[in-house]
Amino acid sequence: MRKNNAMGLWDMSNMIHCSFFIFFFGGLATLSFYRYNNQEAGFRIIKVTLTNSTTNAIANNTLTNTRVFDHETRLTIKPTSVRRTCDLFSGRWVHDNSSRYPLYKEHECPNLEDTFACQMYGRKDSKYLQWRWQPHGCDFPRFDGKSVVERLRGRRLLFVGDSLNRNQWMSMVCMLRSSIPGVKLEGGALNGILHTFRAIDYNISIDFYWAPMLVESNGDIPSDHHRENRFVRIKAIEEKARHWVDADVLIFNSYHWWRLPGVKLSKSVGSGSSLDDPNQEYEEMDSLRAYKLALRTWSKWAYSHVDTSKTKLFFMGATATHSRLGKNQGNCYGETEPVLDDDVFWESGTNLQMLNILESTLNKLKSNGVNVQLINVTQLTQCRKDGHTTVYRKYWRPLSELQKKNPEKAADCSHWCLPGVPDIWNELLLAYILR
Ligand SMILES: *[C@@H]1O[C@H](CO)[C@@H](O)[C@H](O)[C@H]1NC(C)=O
Ligand SMILES: *[C@@H]1O[C@H](CO)[C@@H](O)[C@H](O)[C@H]1NC(C)=O
Ligand SMILES: *[C@@H]1O[C@H](CO)[C@@H](O)[C@H](O)[C@H]1NC(C)=O
Ligand SMILES: *[C@@H]1O[C@H](CO)[C@@H](O)[C@H](O)[C@H]1NC(C)=O
Ligand SMILES: *[C@@H]1O[C@H](CO)[C@@H](O)[C@H](O)[C@H]1NC(C)=O
Repeated sequence: MRKNNAMGLWDMSNMIHCSFFIFFFGGLATLSFYRYNNQEAGFRIIKVTLTNSTTNAIANNTLTNTRVFDHETRLTIKPTSVRRTCDLFSGRWVHDNSSRYPLYKEHECPNLEDTFACQMYGRKDSKYLQWRWQPHGCDFPRFDGKSVVERLRGRRLLFVGDSLNRNQWMSMVCMLRSSIPGVKLEGGALNGILHTFRAIDYNISIDFYWAPMLVESNGDIPSDHHRENRFVRIKAIEEKARHWVDADVLIFNSYHWWRLPGVKLSKSVGSGSSLDDPNQEYEEMDSLRAYKLALRTWSKWAYSHVDTSKTKLFFMGATATHSRLGKNQGNCYGETEPVLDDDVFWESGTNLQMLNILESTLNKLKSNGVNVQLINVTQLTQCRKDGHTTVYRKYWRPLSELQKKNPEKAADCSHWCLPGVPDIWNELLLAYILR
């Protein structure tokens, strides 16, 4: 994102728009422009600070997509030609054993020691490590650790969300750590809610903040989040979000935790009162509606608290879970090949209504001048039934007798081996962060 006050740098069509606005708002006391080049949608956002006398005049203007908030307005102008862009998320998997993948070695990344180090926990096959994502009709910059690290100098990346986002955060740390010379600091804070990876010489931070439902819930303690009932404070986010605002890049996700028949919206207020109190007052709500409300809370926060001239925003799309591959078929256990049926394959487990809710939330934010780039990994993950940790991971609870006899009953078909599929999400994410 570039801040630009110099008219000279603007191209001709901007000049025309610009002089139009100066004419339109003639007599402004203060005038400041931020130019924001969004290649994806081709919008430009100009922020104008207004005096009291002009506010009403703008409220009545005939431009589309204009909203007036007190003494500040964001004008969204569609340029005459919108750059043709390619959908990086529509493509196919190509087997590639040319040594590009995996992007790092499991044993070279100490961060993987618990959940995602599949080979360490006994996975024998390795073809799952050798797949390249190929978008239809275009390409994206392939990961180059050294140049990525140079370009991330002085920046803080923060992943906020559930264990899938933690999966991705760990992938990012593993992808970058071997390319970063010098002292690295790693650790937890806020009772394990925040994990940090810092490269001191480069002043790069890559952090993860545990917030599986984004809003406050009784799953907010990372080490103790299994509950019979899911209580949320559907409008409460700021207490957590104050730890997010200083990041340069924010990457959110929230999907899997809402896939319940219902959630209980707590009426208790204030972080002091416990969300586990069995006597608290609550309203039961179907989780689709609750998901929508939670995303509304999140987007209101993004609108009012994120300075988009400083912070880039991303939202990760839903990732596939292969707990049921199809009729009379098992789950992800024992799978060693992806689905190569490009284009047509659509795994039925994905909740389309939730994807629609997410999409319309992001569209609404965009029409209010806040661009959140969706990294839509849904289809890409649907094909990778071979990429899950299955039984090759640490278990936090002892296995039942049934699970011991039938390992597929204990298979984790949600999380992903590292190195593996999340490395590709990060390649795509970095293509957007660094473009
Ligand atoms: C502008 O209007 C607001 C209330 O609408 C008022 O509080 C403020 O003092 C006004 N500023 C000036 C410079 O008149
Ligand atoms: C804006 O429009 C409303 C009605 O459409 C009108 O009453 C008002 O006077 C207009 N304000 C200005 C500043 O033109
Ligand atoms: C790479 O894979 C091809 C088949 O896709 C195989 O013929 C070849 O031997 C493999 N090369 C290496 C180095 O594994
Ligand atoms: C390190 O980066 C942060 C932003 O992530 C910035 O606030 C700080 O000033 C930087 N420190 C140095 C020494 O460059
Ligand atoms: C993501 O892409 C899929 C198709 O691959 C589409 O069905 C879905 O609506 C898109 N959007 C979201 C938010 O996942």
